[in-house]
Amino acid sequence: MSVTAIVGAQWGDEGKGRVVDYLAQKAQVVIRFQGGDNAGHTVINDKGKFALHIIPSGIFNPDTTCIIGAGTVVNFDTLEIELASIAKVGVEGKNLFIDRRAHLILPFHCQLDGAEEASKKSGWAVGTTKRGIGPCYSDKAARVGIRASDILDPDRLRTRLEMLLPQKNRQLAHYGLPEANIEELMEKCGKWASRFGNRIIDTLPVLREAVTAKKDVLLEGQLGIMRDLDWGIYPYTTSSNPSAGGACSGAGLSPRHIDEVIGVVKAYSTSVGGGPFPTELFDADGEKLRSVGLEFGATTGRPRRCGWFDAVATSFSCWINGFTGIAITKLDILDTFETIKICTGYTIDGVLVTDLPDTSGQEKAVPVYEEMEGWMTSTAEARAWNDLPPKAQAYVLRLAELTGAPIKFISVGPERDQIIIL
Ligand code: GDP
Ligand code: IMO
Ligand code: MG
Repeated sequence: MSVTAIVGAQWGDEGKGRVVDYLAQKAQVVIRFQGGDNAGHTVINDKGKFALHIIPSGIFNPDTTCIIGAGTVVNFDTLEIELASIAKVGVEGKNLFIDRRAHLILPFHCQLDGAEEASKKSGWAVGTTKRGIGPCYSDKAARVGIRASDILDPDRLRTRLEMLLPQKNRQLAHYGLPEANIEELMEKCGKWASRFGNRIIDTLPVLREAVTAKKDVLLEGQLGIMRDLDWGIYPYTTSSNPSAGGACSGAGLSPRHIDEVIGVVKAYSTSVGGGPFPTELFDADGEKLRSVGLEFGATTGRPRRCGWFDAVATSFSCWINGFTGIAITKLDILDTFETIKICTGYTIDGVLVTDLPDTSGQEKAVPVYEEMEGWMTSTAEARAWNDLPPKAQAYVLRLAELTGAPIKFISVGPERDQIIIL
């Protein structure tokens, strides 16, 4: 009976979706606390294979209340498509609610996302998912954003849009894009209100009751700490805080209420988008990690940049998030590597560094590696610690030691049951 935050310990795509899906079998509440439909959380279970974007990964348990939290940004058009995709397999999603405070991604946010990216100087593109995340959070921070509850009150919505649109239209015109039309937006929001109005609620009482009654609550993060707005590789970050701290503000509870923080840690490293990535491999090993690990984006289909495990990054991640445990995923992808490297430090201008530097330091970082022997046998059928070959045990224990938190889960395949619980 606990409140558990599940957060990405690296650059995203660590396997948060599969961990949340597994734990949600017993959870009363799952809350996505930040981000939007930029997520691609893959879940494979008895219903099929899904790439969830904004819907919490607990949706397959009809007894779990799933909340799109106050700290998120929501595009109701893509939510509609996502709900339809799970409805096809009989998942009605009646257990899904959106907090009144969540901000709305409107069509011009997506247009501006693309245009702003295209306007960047060479090498400075963030490589966003073009889902309108940055522009929507910018409006939120500028206090001109539209919240989910606004669409339930047409007069209020119109006034908010009347204040917002002149400045948005100046930006759109600057990029040669068509102006946003208030009547079209009012109509769209009216349709969203009819379709989703009964799901737009104040979620705080639900969470409060669950926490007070000591029920199992999962706080589902999107992306990973290395793309956190404050602590990640700014400016190549997302526009929210995927950290355990972000879970408190985004879901609506105090740090004192969180019992467990599980860092989801891929057994190697991947990153999608721009910015430094010190352990990136451009050789046959990198190619092999990508092809064996099927490292292509769940949202955009983009090939992921691949590299060895970076313990400088995960130990930093452990500090920022306060991991009480880690879930090591995709161990099976390393089954056929004779030698596996772990980055334990960087040299920057010839000086050894073991604390993660900021972005400009990471741009100059040259990884320092230690090597471990691969186990050269399949781990996919392992369901208990003792099923793992000793060299695989040694590898994961080293990852945990360097990261600074005990191992709670190890996954050895994408299916729900391909997991070892410690
Ligand atoms: P998330 O965004 O953190 O939820 O992660 P993604 O779903 O974007 O990426 C993880 C990918 O790895 C997905 O394709 C999962 O199906 C897959 N996956 C997760 N855990 C494992 C594992 O232990 N082994 C293998 N082979 N695949 C896994
Ligand atoms: P999940 O939840 C991997 C990356 C983008 C870009 C940067 C900012 O599946 O781990 P944004 O669209 O948020 O403005 O893009 O962050 N990015 C992700 N990378 N997994 C994700 O989500 C991502 N969401 C955004 O590539 O570099
Ligand atoms: Mg993903």
